[in-house]
Amino acid sequence: MLKVKNLMVFFENALAVNDLSLEVNEGEVIGVFGSNSAGKTTLLNTIAGLTRHLKYREQRKGGMRITINGEIKYAGEEISRLKPSDRVARGIVLCRERHPVLRDNTVEENLKLGGYLRKDGEIRQSISSVYELFPALQKLKARKAGMLSGGEKEMVAIGMAMIAKPKLLLMDEPLLGLSPAMQHEVVRGVKEICRLGVTILISEQYARPIMPVIDRGYVIENGTMVVSGTGAELMENPEVKSAYFGA
Ligand SMILES: Nc1ncnc2c1ncn2[C@@H]1O[C@H](COP(=O)(O)OP(=O)(O)O)[C@@H](O)[C@H]1O
Ligand SMILES: [Mg+2]
Repeated sequence: MLKVKNLMVFFENALAVNDLSLEVNEGEVIGVFGSNSAGKTTLLNTIAGLTRHLKYREQRKGGMRITINGEIKYAGEEISRLKPSDRVARGIVLCRERHPVLRDNTVEENLKLGGYLRKDGEIRQSISSVYELFPALQKLKARKAGMLSGGEKEMVAIGMAMIAKPKLLLMDEPLLGLSPAMQHEVVRGVKEICRLGVTILISEQYARPIMPVIDRGYVIENGTMVVSGTGAELMENPEVKSAYFGA
């Protein structure tokens, strides 16, 4: 479904993603693990088209020079030159790291915003399916998003992404900063989203909490792929095990 080949991303002369290749097949849940600054966000942003968007914005301002090389193929199509919204239209939706919510708007208004590219009638149906996915949000629908806990905000962010109707959902550190109970709830949500037929690429700093739902994982360090494989295969590598599995 997604094939990334020899992807390189430079911010000026700094290499953030170094010759990365990875593959995601339809129906899989794939993990990308790496410590802070490893390149996880840059990888997901580049697949979603945000890095390209930033590159052109910087070019217009005469600011930072961003270089992107390599191939990103989705459903057989080379998408590297598409705008983010054209990628969303094809089903590639990114739930960003600590996804911003509109603090002064209600949970339901935020959810609606996730469907800005879709028709109103379809959105209503999708909003009820988000409440089925995360029942806690139904009770909070009239609450201002700024009043929510970190875990509740993450559920809103995932809900907003779901309303954009992803085929491939990119999730950037959805467990970051959440309590174990909230992590558990988000992991349950990921499992359910997968069951609904959505393919998922998920980045995390620590692999252990998300491992139960992962089919395969990639470990990146300083933008470079160090190992890939099933959970069991990753755990066979003692360095990977101690760095990402906390054991
Ligand atoms: N907009 C940017 N401008 C300059 N450097 C950036 C930018 N975004 C990321 N980087 C650099 O790219 C590297 C990878 O960062 P990032 O993708 O955010 O890693 P991670 O998400 O794994 O923490 C880091 O060295 C970071 O400083
Ligand atoms: Mg990041």
